[in-house]
Amino acid sequence: MSPNSGRRLGSGSLVIATHNAGKLKEISALLDPYGVKCISAGSLGLPEPAETGTTFAQNALIKARSAAEASGLAALADDSGLSVAALGGRPGVYTADWAERQWFEGAPGRDWYMAMGKVEGMLAEKGAASNGDVDRTAAFHCVLAIAWPDGEYAIYEGRCEGRLTWPPRGAMGFGYDPVFVPTGSAQTFAEIAPEEKHAISHRADAFAKLVAEQFG
Ligand code: IMP
Repeated sequence: MSPNSGRRLGSGSLVIATHNAGKLKEISALLDPYGVKCISAGSLGLPEPAETGTTFAQNALIKARSAAEASGLAALADDSGLSVAALGGRPGVYTADWAERQWFEGAPGRDWYMAMGKVEGMLAEKGAASNGDVDRTAAFHCVLAIAWPDGEYAIYEGRCEGRLTWPPRGAMGFGYDPVFVPTGSAQTFAEIAPEEKHAISHRADAFAKLVAEQFG
């Protein structure tokens, strides 16, 4: 990825390349103070491109570029996930896929307990194979990509370091939150209040970098 050119969004319309209403609301609220009017890709009827990248940045850029080209407006997309050191960074860009139920397991959909169990099972195998403690270090990543219709783009990478615990704890949050303990905390992301999580999360880190460069 080439470095950001320093190009700025300014105030005006920005397409948010997500079909997830929750994400649109969260991103709109974050950008509202800067006079940015967020429009969802869904409301414009834009297609959802296949996420064929092998990195978070590639996938965020695929989504942002697709929306910018189709709408003729600047577009913002994000891609996020969990990477576990002892598993060579997996599940990485496949974080959501690991929760996908197979057709033979009943109704299609996502099962986060199955996904967390899969990660834990792989860590247990590593531990058994090495006859010792396994490295439980992990990080959540969030990459934001802005693409302009002329092809220029900017990338902002956020991280939240921590370690995985087992069994899962807490009822707040979503996804892998019940097994992720951020560095400096004794509680999982699912045990801390949402405001507290939002202050230290990978998404907060990426947005802080975007806001500093785009509106600072
Ligand atoms: P996507 O960026 O919408 O493709 O999401 C990727 C996946 O990463 C989500 O479905 C979640 O499983 C996981 N993920 C991303 N951020 C978080 C988080 O803050 N907590 C728990 N899981 C997360």
